[in-house]
Amino acid sequence: MTATAPTVEAARAWFPSLASGFAYLENAGGSQLPGCVIEAMTRFMRESYVQTGAGYPASDRATETASAAHAFCEQLMGAEDKGRVVLGASTTQLCHMLAGCYSRLLQPGDEVVVSVANHEANAGPWAMLERFGIVVKWWGVDPDTGLSDPAALQALLTERTKIVAFPHTSNLLGDVADVPALTRMVHDAGARVVVDGVAFASHGFMEVAAWDVDFYVFSTYKVYGPHMAALYGRHDAWAELQGPNHFFIPHDEVPRKFELGCLSYEACAGLVELGEYLQFLAGRTAMDRETVRLATARMREFEAPLIARLFDVLESKPGVRVLGPGRTGRVPTVSFLSPRTPSPDVAAHVNREAIGIRHGHMYSYRLCEAVRIPTDTGVVRVSAVHTNTVEEIDRLAAALNPVL
Ligand SMILES: Cc1ncc(COP(=O)(O)O)c(C=O)c1O
Repeated sequence: MTATAPTVEAARAWFPSLASGFAYLENAGGSQLPGCVIEAMTRFMRESYVQTGAGYPASDRATETASAAHAFCEQLMGAEDKGRVVLGASTTQLCHMLAGCYSRLLQPGDEVVVSVANHEANAGPWAMLERFGIVVKWWGVDPDTGLSDPAALQALLTERTKIVAFPHTSNLLGDVADVPALTRMVHDAGARVVVDGVAFASHGFMEVAAWDVDFYVFSTYKVYGPHMAALYGRHDAWAELQGPNHFFIPHDEVPRKFELGCLSYEACAGLVELGEYLQFLAGRTAMDRETVRLATARMREFEAPLIARLFDVLESKPGVRVLGPGRTGRVPTVSFLSPRTPSPDVAAHVNREAIGIRHGHMYSYRLCEAVRIPTDTGVVRVSAVHTNTVEEIDRLAAALNPVL
């Protein structure tokens, strides 16, 4: 880090919404936007809001914007020259699109392994393959912590396994899986991985080429960008699939063959501008992989005191059950249960204090069931990012006092 390292306060100044004083601690649901992203979207809508590929200047700008958004995501994810990014409306949509492609490729009797720890976005689409005669096996979790054991995955792999779908980080637990090791295990069995990076991407350095993953997906609206999602696939993985886009679009035209209809070009414009903020965090004036690495390292540095303070608070409350790992090896997404107050009441009480948190199963419905938590009330989740402050966690602690 340089001597002129940015402070949390300086980072917060990039986000217009943070000036309100409301404590955004529901970032795993969606993060806030830097002003430069908002302005780029507005500018695009004023100056270039036309269809791509028509050949006049505004259309050329729209074409370049879409292409820049793909390139930006590939850089952010570390695709190098190993694969391409397909953009879509959401991670849920992209996972359904991908599973739809595999429903046309896999044979009855082939197997897919799905982690119970998944958000439903990376579970349901694979579970639906059952109707095509594909065998769906579930990689279970520890019923107390919710954590996944790689040995349990190993035991499920056979020569018929074709796909293993698992999260890099659970949006309930905040754990961080060893993606390269799991990928090696799955590849040794001759299958492909589909990794949900949504809950990891706003905190960590993605290295999809180095990890050798087949597919990796994240939602840009959780990573300080607009509503959209990016699915990286290795070249050979895309090549084995028939993309669902129109018949006259060539099979090998990736990403277009896998992008149904238009993209949100204004979202593309906003996303590309996120590079400005990453450069600020990194203390650099070029947008490259080193900038991404330094910016994400800065995020982790800013998050460390938040995790420590949050655990101090929760561990001081008798009987509170915190899911997932302890203070280390995690992101600042922390779910817990009060022994005294139902989760909806805890969240409602805190929300009244101008602090945004959430309760429920957060679409990790199967995980909630597996750790024996009623899905109607669910857990209480606090999810911070690097722009939160220790003072906000202290405000949260004061709000939690009467209900924990
Ligand atoms: C871990 C995880 N995966 C997938 C999703 C779904 O993302 P999207 O809303 O882009 O479909 C979410 C959203 O909360 C999530 O947290």
